[in-house]
Amino acid sequence: MSVQHETPAADPAGRVPGERHATGYDVATRERLAADAAEIMARYPQERSALLPMLHLVQSEDGYVSPRGIAFCAAQLGLTTAEVSAVATFYTQYKRHPNGTYTVGVCTNTLCAVMGGDAIWEELTEHLGVDHDETTEDGAITLERIECNAACDYAPVVMVNWEFFDDQTPESARDVVDRLREGVPVAPSRGAASVCTFREMSRVLAGFADGRADEGVGAGPATLRGTLLAKEKGWRAPDFPDVQHVEGQVSPSGGAPAGQAQAEDAKPAATGAGPTPAGQQPGADPKVGAEESSADRPATTPSDTSAEGQERRQRTDDAKES
Ligand code: FES
Repeated sequence: MSVQHETPAADPAGRVPGERHATGYDVATRERLAADAAEIMARYPQERSALLPMLHLVQSEDGYVSPRGIAFCAAQLGLTTAEVSAVATFYTQYKRHPNGTYTVGVCTNTLCAVMGGDAIWEELTEHLGVDHDETTEDGAITLERIECNAACDYAPVVMVNWEFFDDQTPESARDVVDRLREGVPVAPSRGAASVCTFREMSRVLAGFADGRADEGVGAGPATLRGTLLAKEKGWRAPDFPDVQHVEGQVSPSGGAPAGQAQAEDAKPAATGAGPTPAGQQPGADPKVGAEESSADRPATTPSDTSAEGQERRQRTDDAKES
Protein backbone atom coordinates (compact mmCIF):
# COMPACT_ATOMS: atom_id res chain seq x y z
CA MET A 1 0.00 0.00 0.00
CA SER A 2 1.49 3.33 -0.97
CA VAL A 3 1.58 6.21 1.46
CA GLN A 4 0.59 9.63 0.23
CA HIS A 5 2.75 12.44 1.60
CA GLU A 6 1.43 15.93 1.61
CA THR A 7 3.56 18.68 0.18
CA PRO A 8 5.07 20.40 3.25
CA ALA A 9 3.61 23.81 3.91
CA ALA A 10 5.76 26.85 4.41
CA ASP A 11 5.78 28.36 7.89
CA PRO A 12 4.86 32.04 8.42
CA ALA A 13 8.47 33.02 7.78
CA GLY A 14 8.38 31.33 4.39
CA ARG A 15 10.44 28.28 5.40
CA VAL A 16 9.58 24.91 3.97
CA PRO A 17 10.47 21.95 6.19
CA GLY A 18 13.75 20.50 5.04
CA GLU A 19 14.68 23.56 3.06
CA ARG A 20 18.38 24.17 3.36
CA HIS A 21 19.61 27.44 4.78
CA ALA A 22 16.15 28.95 5.21
CA THR A 23 16.97 32.12 7.10
CA GLY A 24 13.70 33.03 8.70
CA TYR A 25 14.25 36.73 8.05
CA ASP A 26 11.57 38.59 6.18
CA VAL A 27 12.49 39.72 2.71
CA ALA A 28 13.34 43.31 3.60
CA THR A 29 15.50 42.30 6.56
CA ARG A 30 17.27 39.61 4.57
CA GLU A 31 18.05 42.06 1.76
CA ARG A 32 19.39 44.62 4.23
CA LEU A 33 21.56 42.03 5.98
CA ALA A 34 22.75 40.62 2.67
CA ALA A 35 23.91 44.09 1.60
CA ASP A 36 25.82 44.46 4.87
CA ALA A 37 27.24 40.96 4.48
CA ALA A 38 28.44 41.74 0.95
CA GLU A 39 30.27 44.77 2.30
CA ILE A 40 31.91 42.67 4.99
CA MET A 41 32.87 39.85 2.60
CA ALA A 42 34.44 42.33 0.18
CA ARG A 43 37.07 43.10 2.82
CA TYR A 44 38.59 39.63 2.65
CA PRO A 45 40.47 37.73 -0.07
CA GLN A 46 38.47 34.64 0.92
CA GLU A 47 34.81 35.20 1.70
CA ARG A 48 34.66 32.64 4.50
CA SER A 49 37.10 34.82 6.44
CA ALA A 50 34.16 37.18 6.93
CA LEU A 51 32.41 34.80 9.30
CA LEU A 52 33.51 36.40 12.57
CA PRO A 53 32.25 39.91 11.75
CA MET A 54 29.13 38.43 10.18
CA LEU A 55 28.30 36.72 13.45
CA HIS A 56 28.52 40.11 15.11
CA LEU A 57 26.22 41.41 12.37
CA VAL A 58 23.71 38.72 13.31
CA GLN A 59 23.98 39.75 16.95
CA SER A 60 23.31 43.35 15.99
CA GLU A 61 20.06 42.19 14.39
CA ASP A 62 18.83 39.49 16.76
CA GLY A 63 20.64 40.29 20.00
CA TYR A 64 22.39 36.91 19.87
CA VAL A 65 23.60 34.33 17.37
CA SER A 66 20.19 32.99 16.48
CA PRO A 67 19.49 29.81 14.51
CA ARG A 68 18.26 31.93 11.61
CA GLY A 69 21.45 34.03 11.88
CA ILE A 70 23.55 30.89 11.65
CA ALA A 71 21.59 29.79 8.59
CA PHE A 72 21.99 33.24 7.06
CA CYS A 73 25.79 33.20 7.52
CA ALA A 74 25.98 29.67 6.11
CA ALA A 75 23.97 30.64 3.04
CA GLN A 76 26.00 33.79 2.39
CA LEU A 77 29.37 32.11 2.80
CA GLY A 78 28.70 28.72 1.29
CA LEU A 79 29.32 26.96 4.59
CA THR A 80 27.27 24.38 6.43
CA THR A 81 25.32 25.44 9.48
CA ALA A 82 27.47 23.00 11.46
CA GLU A 83 30.60 24.86 10.39
CA VAL A 84 29.11 28.20 11.40
CA SER A 85 27.92 26.79 14.73
CA ALA A 86 31.35 25.36 15.42
CA VAL A 87 32.84 28.85 15.19
CA ALA A 88 30.02 30.57 17.07
CA THR A 89 30.30 28.18 20.01
CA PHE A 90 34.07 28.65 20.28
CA TYR A 91 34.13 32.33 21.25
CA THR A 92 32.47 33.72 24.37
CA GLN A 93 31.62 37.01 22.65
CA TYR A 94 29.03 35.16 20.60
CA LYS A 95 25.87 34.65 22.62
CA ARG A 96 23.80 31.52 22.16
CA HIS A 97 20.70 32.95 23.79
CA PRO A 98 19.17 36.43 23.77
CA ASN A 99 21.46 38.89 25.51
CA GLY A 100 20.48 41.79 27.71
CA THR A 101 20.76 45.38 26.52
CA TYR A 102 24.04 45.62 28.42
CA THR A 103 26.63 42.96 29.06
CA VAL A 104 28.17 43.75 32.43
CA GLY A 105 31.45 41.91 32.81
CA VAL A 106 33.23 41.69 36.13
CA CYS A 107 36.90 40.82 35.85
CA THR A 108 37.67 38.12 38.39
CA ASN A 109 41.04 37.23 36.95
CA THR A 110 43.91 37.15 39.42
CA LEU A 111 44.81 40.81 39.90
CA CYS A 112 41.27 42.18 39.77
CA ALA A 113 40.09 39.38 42.05
CA VAL A 114 42.53 40.23 44.83
CA MET A 115 41.93 43.95 44.36
CA GLY A 116 38.19 43.55 44.91
CA GLY A 117 36.80 41.86 41.79
CA ASP A 118 35.51 38.90 43.78
CA ALA A 119 33.70 41.23 46.18
CA ILE A 120 32.14 43.10 43.23
CA TRP A 121 31.02 39.83 41.72
CA GLU A 122 29.35 38.73 44.94
CA GLU A 123 27.66 42.10 45.31
CA LEU A 124 26.27 42.13 41.76
CA THR A 125 25.09 38.53 41.70
CA GLU A 126 23.18 39.10 44.91
CA HIS A 127 21.89 42.55 43.96
CA LEU A 128 20.75 41.53 40.46
CA GLY A 129 19.65 38.02 41.37
CA VAL A 130 21.48 36.46 38.42
CA ASP A 131 24.62 34.40 37.97
CA HIS A 132 27.17 34.07 35.18
CA ASP A 133 25.67 34.41 31.67
CA GLU A 134 22.23 35.07 33.06
CA THR A 135 20.03 38.06 32.29
CA THR A 136 17.90 40.14 34.61
CA GLU A 137 14.15 39.74 34.22
CA ASP A 138 13.78 43.20 32.73
CA GLY A 139 16.23 42.23 29.96
CA ALA A 140 18.56 45.08 30.86
CA ILE A 141 21.66 43.28 32.04
CA THR A 142 23.50 40.07 31.25
CA LEU A 143 26.08 39.45 33.93
CA GLU A 144 29.37 37.76 33.14
CA ARG A 145 32.58 36.80 34.83
CA ILE A 146 35.31 37.89 32.46
CA GLU A 147 39.00 37.17 32.15
CA CYS A 148 41.74 39.78 32.16
CA ASN A 149 40.88 42.72 29.94
CA ALA A 150 44.42 44.10 29.88
CA ALA A 151 43.42 46.86 32.24
CA CYS A 152 45.13 45.50 35.34
CA ASP A 153 46.55 48.95 36.09
CA TYR A 154 42.97 49.99 36.92
CA ALA A 155 41.97 46.89 38.86
CA PRO A 156 39.34 45.97 39.73
CA VAL A 157 37.71 46.56 36.38
CA VAL A 158 34.09 46.24 35.27
CA MET A 159 33.16 46.33 31.59
CA VAL A 160 29.82 47.46 30.19
CA ASN A 161 29.52 46.41 26.56
CA TRP A 162 33.32 46.44 26.48
CA GLU A 163 33.69 49.97 27.79
CA PHE A 164 35.98 50.33 30.81
CA PHE A 165 34.83 51.21 34.28
CA ASP A 166 38.07 51.43 36.22
CA ASP A 167 38.92 51.17 39.91
CA GLN A 168 35.50 49.92 40.88
CA THR A 169 34.10 49.04 44.29
CA PRO A 170 31.02 46.93 45.08
CA GLU A 171 29.13 50.18 45.71
CA SER A 172 30.20 51.94 42.51
CA ALA A 173 29.50 48.83 40.42
CA ARG A 174 26.03 48.51 41.94
CA ASP A 175 25.40 52.17 41.14
CA VAL A 176 26.39 51.55 37.51
CA VAL A 177 23.99 48.63 37.06
CA ASP A 178 21.18 50.52 38.82
CA ARG A 179 21.63 53.42 36.43
CA LEU A 180 21.66 51.15 33.44
CA ARG A 181 18.41 49.52 34.51
CA GLU A 182 16.81 52.91 35.10
CA GLY A 183 17.93 54.20 31.71
CA VAL A 184 20.16 56.83 33.26
CA PRO A 185 23.32 57.48 31.16
CA VAL A 186 26.58 56.15 32.55
CA ALA A 187 30.03 57.35 31.55
CA PRO A 188 32.96 54.94 31.14
CA SER A 189 36.27 55.87 32.73
CA ARG A 190 38.05 55.96 29.37
CA GLY A 191 37.14 55.95 25.71
CA ALA A 192 33.71 57.05 24.51
CA ALA A 193 31.64 59.30 26.75
CA SER A 194 28.68 56.94 26.94
CA VAL A 195 27.76 53.29 26.61
CA CYS A 196 25.86 52.03 23.58
CA THR A 197 23.56 49.01 23.54
CA PHE A 198 24.65 45.44 22.93
CA ARG A 199 23.16 45.52 19.44
CA GLU A 200 24.82 48.83 18.59
CA MET A 201 28.14 47.53 19.88
CA SER A 202 27.73 44.36 17.84
CA ARG A 203 27.31 46.38 14.67
CA VAL A 204 30.55 48.21 15.40
CA LEU A 205 32.29 44.86 15.95
CA ALA A 206 30.89 43.78 12.59
CA GLY A 207 32.98 46.58 11.11
CA PHE A 208 30.44 49.36 10.76
CA ALA A 209 32.10 52.15 12.72
CA ASP A 210 29.96 54.55 14.71
CA GLY A 211 32.66 57.22 14.56
CA ARG A 212 33.40 57.03 18.27
CA ALA A 213 36.51 54.83 18.30
CA ASP A 214 38.81 57.77 18.90
CA GLU A 215 36.65 59.53 21.46
CA GLY A 216 38.03 60.27 24.88
CA VAL A 217 41.20 59.22 26.61
CA GLY A 218 42.88 56.08 25.29
CA ALA A 219 45.59 55.69 27.90
CA GLY A 220 44.96 57.06 31.38
CA PRO A 221 47.51 58.21 33.96
CA ALA A 222 48.15 54.73 35.38
CA THR A 223 48.99 53.38 31.92
CA LEU A 224 51.32 56.26 31.11
CA ARG A 225 53.05 56.31 34.50
CA GLY A 226 55.91 54.04 33.48
CA THR A 227 56.58 55.95 30.26
CA LEU A 228 56.58 59.29 32.03
CA LEU A 229 58.81 57.98 34.82
CA ALA A 230 61.29 56.60 32.29
CA LYS A 231 61.30 59.92 30.49
CA GLU A 232 61.90 61.84 33.72
CA LYS A 233 64.77 59.57 34.73
CA GLY A 234 66.25 59.24 31.26
CA TRP A 235 65.80 55.46 31.31
CA ARG A 236 65.70 53.42 28.14
CA ALA A 237 65.51 49.75 27.35
CA PRO A 238 68.89 48.05 26.87
CA ASP A 239 69.95 47.16 23.35
CA PHE A 240 69.53 43.66 22.11
CA PRO A 241 72.80 41.68 22.25
CA ASP A 242 75.00 42.05 19.18
CA VAL A 243 72.97 44.97 17.89
CA GLN A 244 74.22 48.48 17.37
CA HIS A 245 72.45 51.69 16.50
CA VAL A 246 73.23 53.21 13.13
CA GLU A 247 71.76 56.65 12.59
CA GLY A 248 68.56 55.87 14.39
CA GLN A 249 68.25 52.38 12.91
CA VAL A 250 69.26 48.99 14.18
CA SER A 251 71.59 46.64 12.37
CA PRO A 252 73.32 43.40 13.30
CA SER A 253 76.73 44.07 14.79
CA GLY A 254 79.33 44.16 12.05
CA GLY A 255 76.76 43.87 9.30
CA ALA A 256 75.20 46.34 6.99
CA PRO A 257 72.54 48.60 8.50
CA ALA A 258 69.12 47.04 8.38
CA GLY A 259 67.88 49.89 6.24
CA GLN A 260 70.50 49.02 3.59
CA ALA A 261 70.60 45.25 3.80
CA GLN A 262 66.89 44.81 3.57
CA ALA A 263 65.88 48.03 1.97
CA GLU A 264 63.78 46.59 -0.78
CA ASP A 265 61.99 44.00 1.36
CA ALA A 266 61.43 46.29 4.29
CA LYS A 267 60.35 49.35 2.36
CA PRO A 268 56.62 48.73 2.00
CA ALA A 269 56.09 47.76 5.63
CA ALA A 270 58.37 50.44 6.99
CA THR A 271 56.91 53.25 4.95
CA GLY A 272 53.34 52.26 4.56
CA ALA A 273 51.83 50.00 7.15
CA GLY A 274 50.26 51.20 10.33
CA PRO A 275 49.80 54.58 11.94
CA THR A 276 52.63 57.09 12.03
CA PRO A 277 54.03 57.70 15.52
CA ALA A 278 53.62 61.18 16.91
CA GLY A 279 56.16 63.62 15.55
CA GLN A 280 57.20 61.30 12.72
CA GLN A 281 56.80 62.37 9.15
CA PRO A 282 54.46 60.16 7.13
CA GLY A 283 56.54 57.82 5.01
CA ALA A 284 59.62 58.08 7.23
CA ASP A 285 61.20 54.93 8.62
CA PRO A 286 60.19 54.36 12.23
CA LYS A 287 62.82 55.51 14.67
CA VAL A 288 64.11 52.86 17.01
CA GLY A 289 63.02 53.55 20.54
CA ALA A 290 60.49 56.17 19.47
CA GLU A 291 57.72 56.54 21.98
CA GLU A 292 54.09 56.51 21.05
CA SER A 293 51.21 56.90 23.39
CA SER A 294 47.78 55.74 22.31
CA ALA A 295 46.69 59.25 23.27
CA ASP A 296 48.91 60.54 20.43
CA ARG A 297 47.82 57.90 17.99
CA PRO A 298 46.31 59.35 14.81
CA ALA A 299 42.78 58.28 14.00
CA THR A 300 42.64 55.19 11.82
CA THR A 301 38.93 54.48 11.70
CA PRO A 302 36.86 54.96 8.56
CA SER A 303 35.67 58.20 10.14
CA ASP A 304 39.11 59.57 9.31
CA THR A 305 38.31 60.94 5.88
CA SER A 306 41.15 63.45 5.77
CA ALA A 307 43.54 63.41 2.84
CA GLU A 308 46.26 62.13 5.16
CA GLY A 309 44.01 59.33 6.37
CA GLN A 310 43.15 58.32 2.81
CA GLU A 311 46.82 58.38 1.88
CA ARG A 312 47.73 56.25 4.90
CA ARG A 313 45.12 53.65 4.02
CA GLN A 314 46.34 53.59 0.43
CA ARG A 315 49.91 52.98 1.58
CA THR A 316 48.68 50.20 3.83
CA ASP A 317 46.82 48.57 0.96
CA ASP A 318 49.87 48.90 -1.29
CA ALA A 319 52.07 47.30 1.37
CA LYS A 320 49.67 44.36 1.72
CA GLU A 321 49.69 43.73 -2.03
CA SER A 322 53.48 43.92 -2.39
S1 FES B 1 43.16 41.02 35.90
FE1 FES B 1 41.45 42.29 35.56
S2 FES B 1 42.03 43.52 33.86
FE2 FES B 1 43.74 42.21 34.19
